[in-house]
Amino acid sequence: MDRIFIFDTTLRDGEQAPGASMTADQKYEVATQLAKLGTDIIEAGFPVSSPQQFKACKLIAENLKGPVIAALARAIKKDIDTAAEVLAKAENSRIHTFIATSPIHMKHKLKKKPDEIIEMAVSAVKYARKKARQVEFSAEDASRSDLEFLCKIFEKVIDAGATIVNIADTVGYAIPSEIGNIISAIRNNVPNIDKAIISVHCHNDLGLAVANTLAAIENGARQAEVAINGIGERAGNAAFEELVMALEVRKELMPYRTNINPTHLYKTSRLISNFTGFAIPKNKPIVGDNIFVHESGIHQDGILKHRATYEIITPASIGRKEKTNIVLGRHSGLHGFKSRVAELDFKLSKEESKSVYNKFLNLADKKKEVFDEDLITLITDERGVKNPTYKLEYFSVISGNKTIPTATIKIKHNNEIFEEAAIADGPVEAIFKAIEKATGITAKLEEYKVQAVTPGKQAMGEVKILIRANNTTVAGRGSSTDILEASANAYVNALNKLVLHKGSNQ
Ligand code: KIV
Ligand code: ZN
Repeated sequence: MDRIFIFDTTLRDGEQAPGASMTADQKYEVATQLAKLGTDIIEAGFPVSSPQQFKACKLIAENLKGPVIAALARAIKKDIDTAAEVLAKAENSRIHTFIATSPIHMKHKLKKKPDEIIEMAVSAVKYARKKARQVEFSAEDASRSDLEFLCKIFEKVIDAGATIVNIADTVGYAIPSEIGNIISAIRNNVPNIDKAIISVHCHNDLGLAVANTLAAIENGARQAEVAINGIGERAGNAAFEELVMALEVRKELMPYRTNINPTHLYKTSRLISNFTGFAIPKNKPIVGDNIFVHESGIHQDGILKHRATYEIITPASIGRKEKTNIVLGRHSGLHGFKSRVAELDFKLSKEESKSVYNKFLNLADKKKEVFDEDLITLITDERGVKNPTYKLEYFSVISGNKTIPTATIKIKHNNEIFEEAAIADGPVEAIFKAIEKATGITAKLEEYKVQAVTPGKQAMGEVKILIRANNTTVAGRGSSTDILEASANAYVNALNKLVLHKGSNQ
């Protein structure tokens, strides 16, 4: 009874965060990494919501062995059929069906009476039960639902065949004692609760998602729904790495066991950040840059005398190095490059290896020292959009305090080169305008961030942007020792993602 099942929803709820979309290949790589971590259940997506989601869910379900693969479905036949279709060849499958149970959602969103909601939930679970090994039922907005009604619907869906019942704090409204009471009430008042696992799914609108998840566990929940880096709708979901490390570090107070090997946490966190373009704040618990940095003299003195004076976890426990390593230089050669890539736990195909090696040589020419972070950036860049629609062939910028910034761009599309120039108030804007002219796509720039990948004046710059067009927000990233080139790469990367998402009804 002390085993906690970790259900990861990075690829579903996490990807619902505006701009967090990933390609099917990127999602497969994330799923592989989640499996390495020991994740029990991976929610691969919401397959009915778009062709891209369908493709990614199918790819993961058909190829990833080990974890249970879950697909989300509203409590309607079409969604369940689509979920069943993508899961058909999964080694272990779960249909995750949900319906809202709070008065506000039932009345205003669904326009249905409570009895109709129960009926829909029960028929959805019965139907899903015929199509997948496991069925999870989620009560959306459970924390704002009437407790008696919640207990009633859970009893009925368990009778109908659900083996996991999930309490969703959909809007991140609950506080820990409240979530604890809900779980206790369910344990005490649902007569057949012994036939199901109680799960919890907390959003972070009040910054309480992890605290609420822990309170749920202490009161009997045995499945926790989490997302890497806490990504998800609005303020996000309970952060995977925070929950796992809280359970690990304070196990004397919380004697529960997960199947997670935390030494893969850091790499997984960086992978998600690179794929989504969501930067990790420096002070982010567990995975932020500052977690092992000590500024004040008193703290530094304490750390030098005994690390545990000011650190409660070790870098090694989450797979993090003590300091950024200088790994390679221009004389390291192919062998040195390949063995460092392997040490960083990346498997590159022959073509990927060749292409990343060439980029590495280029970088090593410009920069004396190539750090682990540089290599990881080159590799994740390589694994961006496969067969991109647009490719940046050339760019040139003229800028200065007495010059009108002017950019010239050459973009390759279907083996044809499109060359355009533009002027603007600044060089980055001129580049973006010229790219828009060359591709014929106009988008609104919602966010632009530039940061150095590693310390030092020669560092590679990484540009992360969010653009919006056709009601879709996508992220783009690019890196280079020249931040204008990185900006151009980021914009072209985002436009390629936009093309992939065209037609999506997500
Ligand atoms: O937040 C929520 O209610 C959800 C459900 C689909 C579980 O994500
Ligand atoms: Zn959610």
